[in-house]
Amino acid sequence: MKIAFYDTKPYDKPSFEHYGALKDMQFRFLETRLNEDTVELARGCEAVCVFVNDTVNAAVIDRLYELGVKVIALRSAGYNNVDIQHAFGKIHVVHVPSYSPYAVAEHAMAMLLTSVRRIHKAYNRTREFNFSLNGLTGFVFHGKTVGVIGTGKIGRIFIDICRGFGMHVIAYDRYPAPDSGIEYVPLEELFRRSDIISLHCPLTDETRHMINAEAIGQMKKGVILVNTSRGGLIDAEALLEGIKARKIGAACLDVYEEEADIFFEDLSGHILNDELLSRLISMPNVIVTSHQAFLTEEALNNIAETTVNNILSYFEKDGCCDNELCYRCGHIDQCRHQRKEKCF
Ligand code: NAI
Repeated sequence: MKIAFYDTKPYDKPSFEHYGALKDMQFRFLETRLNEDTVELARGCEAVCVFVNDTVNAAVIDRLYELGVKVIALRSAGYNNVDIQHAFGKIHVVHVPSYSPYAVAEHAMAMLLTSVRRIHKAYNRTREFNFSLNGLTGFVFHGKTVGVIGTGKIGRIFIDICRGFGMHVIAYDRYPAPDSGIEYVPLEELFRRSDIISLHCPLTDETRHMINAEAIGQMKKGVILVNTSRGGLIDAEALLEGIKARKIGAACLDVYEEEADIFFEDLSGHILNDELLSRLISMPNVIVTSHQAFLTEEALNNIAETTVNNILSYFEKDGCCDNELCYRCGHIDQCRHQRKEKCF
């Protein structure tokens, strides 16, 4: 079986080669991203494997369908880059719902600690034998209130980590988890009470720019924002204004709304064509990592193993396709996946 593997990076290959070989699967590793110009490279393949910045819009789906591609296998949890509704009835879409929620939650805490205790500043200073402490004052987490938006797999692990630090946790989720022992509050209250806010909900039409000027206006002065979820959750212009107005104390961003042509690439030596990102990075209280939160050995192995099994389940299993997605997922009366059938 041949699979066109778009947007390949050196760290993807070992795990996919290993798990693919176990199942007689050949990956055609392509460095280019999937879009309308590169879709032809999937000719002769039964499936395509894509990541968060590949473009899987209606035009790309139609061409993949014409080429006879049966499965779009996302090697990510998030799938906002795929037109799920358009794919329905044409190509089955599978994803990796959870490959290492610990990796992402731990990265969120790593960024938060780095920011609050100024580790990034201290690292640069001591490398130049500057042992001054001026400007490195942080604050303790113990007793602070952290607001967690989205209490799914990653959000809950992040909550446990925060509780380990002795923080008081409040949360908002569109679908609160009953009997979880989590103190759910309305979003406005979370904005008002939190010293730190961490985002762990998916990007949807409803959550896009949930952190906008109005939301920032409701927050505490000096609030710290952490986003390891999706860039589109934050209106980056409003964030920059909030930072310039000294309302936002710090921002830890692993994702950025316009990251698609920037993140995962070495652009050192180039002039960055994104004024907003340049401005944010230039701020002393902003830390940016380039969608790195998942990047652990454990996650890479889980992603490869699950993706290989997801693809095989379509071709080899009767009944349902493992980890299939469709726009009807979650609608109890319509969801065929819950009845252990393929989505269409
Ligand atoms: P999950 O599906 O387990 O949890 C998401 C939670 O968000 C659920 O509890 C859901 O009820 C809640 N939610 C849905 N709509 C909401 C709304 N409108 N407002 C508030 N909450 C809402 O997902 P998981 O595994 O915890 O992942 C969370 C997000 O993390 C993903 O959507 C993905 O975007 C991001 N992610 C980022 C990675 C990175 O490397 N930076 C890696 C993996 C995931």
